[in-house]
Amino acid sequence: MTITPQFLDELRARLPVSDVVGKRVKLVKKGREFSGLCPFHDEKTPSFTVNDDKAFYHCFGCGAHGDVIRFVIETEGLSFPEAVEKLGAIAGLQVPKATPQERQRADRARSLQEASEAAARFYERHLRDHNGAAALDYLRRRGLKQETIQQFRLGWAPDRRMALKQAMIGEGYPEALLIEAGLLIKPEGGGETLDRFYNRLMFPISDRRGRAIAFGGRALGDIKPKYINSPETPLFNKGHLLYAMDTAREAARDGADVIVTEGYTDVIALWQAGFRGATAPLGTALTESQLAELWRLAPEPVLCFDGDQAGRRAAARAVGRALPRLQPGLSLRFAILPSGEDPDSLIATEGPPAFRRLLEGALPLVDCLWQLETAGRPSDTPERRTAILKALRNRIAEIGERSVQDAYFDEIEVRFRKAFGRVPSNRSGYGGQGRKARFRYDRFSRSANTPAGAVKTDGRVDSLHLRGRQALLATLINHPALFDTLAEELAKTPFSEGSDLDRLRGFLLEGNGATEADALETAGLVATVDRVTSRAVYELAPFAAPSARDDEALEGWRHLYRQMFETRALNAEKAAAMQAFADAPDERRWAYLRALGAQARPSDEEELGRDG
Ligand code: UTP
Ligand code: MN
Repeated sequence: MTITPQFLDELRARLPVSDVVGKRVKLVKKGREFSGLCPFHDEKTPSFTVNDDKAFYHCFGCGAHGDVIRFVIETEGLSFPEAVEKLGAIAGLQVPKATPQERQRADRARSLQEASEAAARFYERHLRDHNGAAALDYLRRRGLKQETIQQFRLGWAPDRRMALKQAMIGEGYPEALLIEAGLLIKPEGGGETLDRFYNRLMFPISDRRGRAIAFGGRALGDIKPKYINSPETPLFNKGHLLYAMDTAREAARDGADVIVTEGYTDVIALWQAGFRGATAPLGTALTESQLAELWRLAPEPVLCFDGDQAGRRAAARAVGRALPRLQPGLSLRFAILPSGEDPDSLIATEGPPAFRRLLEGALPLVDCLWQLETAGRPSDTPERRTAILKALRNRIAEIGERSVQDAYFDEIEVRFRKAFGRVPSNRSGYGGQGRKARFRYDRFSRSANTPAGAVKTDGRVDSLHLRGRQALLATLINHPALFDTLAEELAKTPFSEGSDLDRLRGFLLEGNGATEADALETAGLVATVDRVTSRAVYELAPFAAPSARDDEALEGWRHLYRQMFETRALNAEKAAAMQAFADAPDERRWAYLRALGAQARPSDEEELGRDG
């Protein structure tokens, strides 16, 4: 399928948001809008609104915001292309015909999927016949019930190197396809292809819709390696997928806790014990995209870790992954198991209630962070105590969302006072920079909202964030050492196409320093640079000034960038841009609106690349 912007526009035009949302949320019409109880957070009085004219929903309680496609993605846990396909069917729209290459790729994917599915059936079958008897016996000894074995479609790869190959080629699957699916391997020194998996217990790995696309194979005895997993294939991307995601998603919708464990056997044991929201990454640490996936299922997934050293390190890594991505309402909890245990072994020895208790006692992220940074550290001198405080503040500095970050600073201060007495008053310990380095966004946006402050200085764009953009550019002009670090974000920053600031950005991105007077002159940017590096800008963003240290400038830049372009601020800016366009429509304002829209959907593009 080819998803074009035109098709998406058509889709949005044909499907009133209230129709789609109304299937899930009881909506009451109020004037031009509908309102109801927000499906994204718990509430008793409605703060969720749907506006069909503007084609979006918005929650004043939790900030959830999006169009009809976003709604389906968020509430049904579908990928972008899946949501589009589904809505297309509802709207009676044919998803545009793919190009020949795309069709070829889709056909290929389908063949790979069918081959994986056939292999899963082959392994399942062999677990039931005589040569799988030992494996079946092993599973039973581990306490797995018939129902569980079926649910997870466990199987057996026979101890012959061409068992699967012969069977599948016999069924008409081409050898090349089986290689691409990761089922056969070509021996290094040449010669005939062989089964990748043999003499192993097989765990099929499913895609989001529950179709087998890859495998994990466990040796029964002491053979190394213990597990062999499918290689990455066009269908199987380890970093994106979670084991048993389809089951977990369904369970989460029915209110089950989402539990993240280390591997196959834990997920299966948890499921059998009634914890049906269990899932696991595939032999690696949790990735950013897996984290996002988990947050689509539940606001606070519980991660399980072994209480030993390695477990603590893994927990610390997970904390590091999560901090920059925390949002109001979205967090993680941490269940720390007794040293040397995994959920499977704990349930086997102590029973499901023991795990239930562990789950109920799972630590909020803030506690886990506190423990990681304080446990075992000496605190008997002022230096040692402030070192702890500094470490905590450094971690909190990693939090991307401003209000969550502030709440963490406050919470840590309270805890610190409880544990060690007075809190050193200077908050500038974290990251080596003080809060003063931050852009006074609040001050700025207040003034910009008053008519007198309505920004028109640029003479082109009525942008609420004009000063902010000027500050971003000024920082790079005055601190060229930061350029490499920030170039990518700078390139992504929405600017009105062709505006002075946009041209200055392009000039900088091409590797020009703004000190090269001749080049600036030629580009006609001298006046722009003067405006950008003015006192008015430095007053609001002291970190942008030449007098600021580079590290202050970096922290300030990052903060400002986040404030300007995290969802809420972006929505405000979009609303302002829409208003500006409505008041005085012209092409430049239209281009600016588009630029904002493009910036707002990087995750969709990523998903398009993955699945479409
Ligand atoms: P474990 O070694 O803890 O295995 O690896 P396990 O799942 O508890 O299996 P049992 O209980 O000993 O039978 C945890 C997870 O790490 C991945 C697998 O996903 C496994 O489930 N792993 C482990 C590999 O991918 N390869 C390996 O060689 C080992
Ligand atoms: Mn285990």
